[in-house]
Amino acid sequence: MKKIKLALLGLGTVGTGVYKLLNMRSDVMEQTIGAQLEIKKILVHNMHKKREGVDPALLTDDWKEIVEDDEIRIVVEVIGRIEPARTMILEALRAGKNVVSANKDLIAEQGRELLDTAQETGADFLFEAAVAGGIPIIRPLKQCLAANEISEVLGIVNGTTNYILTKMFEDGMEFDDALKKAQELGYAEADPTADVEGLDAGRKVAIMASIAFHSRVVFDDVYTEGISKITAADIAYAKEFDSVIKLLGVARNTPEGIEAGVYPVMLDEDHPLASVRNSFNAVFIHGDAVDDAMFYGRGAGEMPTASAVAGDVIDVARDIVYGCTGRISCTCYRQLRVKPFGEAENKFFIRMQVKNRPGVLAQIAQVFGEHEVSIARVVQKNAKTEQAELVIVTEKVKELNMKDALEELTKMENISEVSSVIREF
Ligand SMILES: NC(=O)c1ccc[n+]([C@@H]2O[C@H](COP(=O)([O-])OP(=O)(O)OC[C@H]3O[C@@H](n4cnc5c(N)ncnc54)[C@H](OP(=O)(O)O)[C@@H]3O)[C@@H](O)[C@H]2O)c1
Repeated sequence: MKKIKLALLGLGTVGTGVYKLLNMRSDVMEQTIGAQLEIKKILVHNMHKKREGVDPALLTDDWKEIVEDDEIRIVVEVIGRIEPARTMILEALRAGKNVVSANKDLIAEQGRELLDTAQETGADFLFEAAVAGGIPIIRPLKQCLAANEISEVLGIVNGTTNYILTKMFEDGMEFDDALKKAQELGYAEADPTADVEGLDAGRKVAIMASIAFHSRVVFDDVYTEGISKITAADIAYAKEFDSVIKLLGVARNTPEGIEAGVYPVMLDEDHPLASVRNSFNAVFIHGDAVDDAMFYGRGAGEMPTASAVAGDVIDVARDIVYGCTGRISCTCYRQLRVKPFGEAENKFFIRMQVKNRPGVLAQIAQVFGEHEVSIARVVQKNAKTEQAELVIVTEKVKELNMKDALEELTKMENISEVSSVIREF
């Protein structure tokens, strides 16, 4: 029986999961692949760390032992960040190896360079785990839905923020308390910036948009706004409007170009994404043939992420057995414009504190009118006191027009505070 040898780069959360899962399934690899898989080396940073259940003879901190070993046909990069992962992947590809990676940061920024190199060398470069962890989404977009013109990809692709928003919505917690709870449970890191400010989700949106619309979108093209300004008061309004608040990754292919962003939205409770609770992730796609399709599951964690990485490893191994690596490479054959986010159109929910005087609403309406913002509905609370809380929901308006209108509103004497600005879906 043929043996296919591989190396793991990294033995942290994901690497340990991949090691366990490949060992758990070793007895069925012959039937699944037509070959045995063998982990020949594992690259780590710290050789002195205790690694329960891992054969110490496999460990090395010398990259050369892997890249110069011709027996190793697959390199699995689960180190993370940009360097040294980028250099190692490029060197592995140039040494004739196939690569599997879970590295969203790297692929969202340098995906083209890596895919072009894989194409040149005829290697497989697969990265299913880089978007939404255990949920299959890259392969469905590249293969199962390949006959579709995809117009929209919407995703809840960050489990930390979805957990926080669920706690705020269901248990009435404020943001800071929900974040603390997420940290206690290990859902949020000590420095939660990348998650709560939408940067992690932004990287996944860049990757999904590139694949869905066949045109390169990089992380810098994606507008990002996080959830740290969402308050219990906003959540209460969402409930009143039969909606939930979710941090959504939104990618659209419009006649004027690709729109890509991550931001909190008020989402109608009937939308399929509204029911995605706690740390679960989901991606909702619209294609011209398939219509609506949704993919749901675990977006992170040791074994769910290992599931996606190991699936890629098995796919590469099959391609090696059948001599067809490099079969599905870069699918960005178009060069579409990416819209500056100011050109995108959205509906808005605006909550503000205003002086309770006659004529204030008319002044606000005038500012909106001057900036081509149409008002869909107005809700006023605490109208008996000197201050009133005013909520305005707009029709679809250009982001830039809304920004200009808000700048003017914040300067108005009768408006003491614009408390929240949230897009409505
Ligand atoms: N965690 C998840 O749920 C999840 C989900 C989806 C995707 N991902 C992606 O998967 C990748 C890995 O994430 P993770 O959570 O497993 O990370 P992690 O727990 O921090 O593990 C990183 C591993 O890389 C090793 N490493 C770091 N720098 C190295 C270097 N210079 N040379 C050799 N080895 C080095 C570390 O070695 P030591 O053990 O010696 O320190 C560690 O084993 C990232 O790209 C991440 O974005 C993670």
